[in-house]
Amino acid sequence: MRSTVSEPLPASASAADWWRTGVVYQVYPRSFADSNGDGDGDLAGIIEHLDHLGPDGLGVDAIWLSPFYPSPWRDGGYDVSDHAAVDPRFGSEADFDRLVTAAHERGIRVVLDLVLNHTADEHPWFVASRASRTGPYADFYLWRDASGVDAGGRRRPPNNWRSFFSGPGWEWDEGRRQFYFHTFLVEQPELNWRAPALERAQFEMVRGWLERGVDGFRLDVFNAFLKDPELRSNPRRAGHSAWDRQRHVYDRDQPDLTLLLGRFRDLLDAWPGRMSVGELFDGPLERAVELTREPHLVFDWELLDQPWSAAQIGSAIDRREAAFGPERWPTLVLSNHDRPRHASRLAGSAGIDNSDAVAKAAAVLLLTLRGTPFLYYGEEIGGRDVDVPAAESVDPPASVGDPQFRWWDRSRCRTPMPWTGEPGAGFSDGPPWLRLAPDVATRNVAAQLMDPGSVMHCYRRLLAARRASPALHGGTFERLVTSDTDVLAWRRRSADEQAVVVLNCADRPAEVSVGSTPGHVARAVVGTHLDPPDVFAEASRLRLRPLEGTIAIGSVG
Ligand code: GLC
Repeated sequence: MRSTVSEPLPASASAADWWRTGVVYQVYPRSFADSNGDGDGDLAGIIEHLDHLGPDGLGVDAIWLSPFYPSPWRDGGYDVSDHAAVDPRFGSEADFDRLVTAAHERGIRVVLDLVLNHTADEHPWFVASRASRTGPYADFYLWRDASGVDAGGRRRPPNNWRSFFSGPGWEWDEGRRQFYFHTFLVEQPELNWRAPALERAQFEMVRGWLERGVDGFRLDVFNAFLKDPELRSNPRRAGHSAWDRQRHVYDRDQPDLTLLLGRFRDLLDAWPGRMSVGELFDGPLERAVELTREPHLVFDWELLDQPWSAAQIGSAIDRREAAFGPERWPTLVLSNHDRPRHASRLAGSAGIDNSDAVAKAAAVLLLTLRGTPFLYYGEEIGGRDVDVPAAESVDPPASVGDPQFRWWDRSRCRTPMPWTGEPGAGFSDGPPWLRLAPDVATRNVAAQLMDPGSVMHCYRRLLAARRASPALHGGTFERLVTSDTDVLAWRRRSADEQAVVVLNCADRPAEVSVGSTPGHVARAVVGTHLDPPDVFAEASRLRLRPLEGTIAIGSVG
């Protein structure tokens, strides 16, 4: 039997606005840690490594678990065939409840990934829905008749909508003799959120997880849930791919989405302190801002899309600050399971060989800008993308369709977490489901633990400073001018405290003056290096090493 209520969190972790002050760590369960030697990461493996994440390790506030639900695994688990259960590949229902309890004992909350826009075609709802135009599941998906036949006698789809993963968005089903829509793979039919019974069924599933002690949810592609009720064709525009050649005004971002989100939040708000974060699917910063209704946060991609350039990062920071304004709370993300790992991406974009130095400097952005940081497993050891040969790819969307728009092979950023330098990298005693990075013998958690100069110790220092500083985890934000365009600076301020952050984005030393308030005394100075300079003491002539970031925290003057 499932236990329904997990152990409460320790008092120190019980602040209702933890989603604002805290840090979330994303785990891709299949690649985190394998407890039984079958080569796949599992929930018991996550439990074994919670101390790496808890107060004696990184000290994060929550883990976000990418999907661990039963899945045919055509889209890395984001094709779900039973949203209320644990895939036996990852363990048992009891393992999940043990994980929630063990996380809570360490003050770590558990956030689940909800894939509510579509299911796998093997989901029993879809099996029933395609079998009959009547019955309880008939309208759970977006079914429509053909809009006619073309000159060649082929059935015409209901409108011009496309699949993001390439090709047409509508698929003819012989059984039901209708088209169904899919924004993603043909095997990921789109759910019909305009059917009240579908909403009830989804909310029931969500309630089930809340009753098991879950602390929040990440909503996959949440701005696509609702479509235009009349299913009108999207207007055309110029673009590089068939997807880009449409303005996506009817297949996502519908005006009544905020009402649906409100009903979802009402459900969560019956349990105190439950957070949610929506993944903005293919949309602009302004859309992310509009849909931010705290404690519902939204991932935008403005910062993540920048190369390693002080000018471009600086203006992305300014655009975000202007768009969110002081009253809305942004998220901070540099890597996730869909994008190139930022140590590779950012170092590559600037032609810098030392990706560890870039990873440490990027950690300063992630952990001291205004917003809730989301870390991606492995970034804390400077993990890089791995060259996975096409024959070993575990990401089918990367191999379908339109050669003009090939989805990046996400196998490269989903490789197993290296814990030790032993064979199998402490990830698994068996052959791992996906190849390990070539450098795991030296780049692993155990090795970095022994090295105070490692990326991991830099993350630990910055996380500890952030946790202890109301200015850093909750304060206002103000950009400061420096005398060198490669050096960014900002100030965070709370009622009694200020933190001044200075970051040299160049791979050369810099000597700058920072428009700060001189004469302050630093209570703490922390940075990318072990002996960072104190901005308060040296604001008029601050010397920084290549890619050095430094943070001085003191009282408000
Ligand atoms: C989201 C997920 C991605 C998945 C897609 C379709 O963008 O992050 O991994 O492929 O949704 O489910």
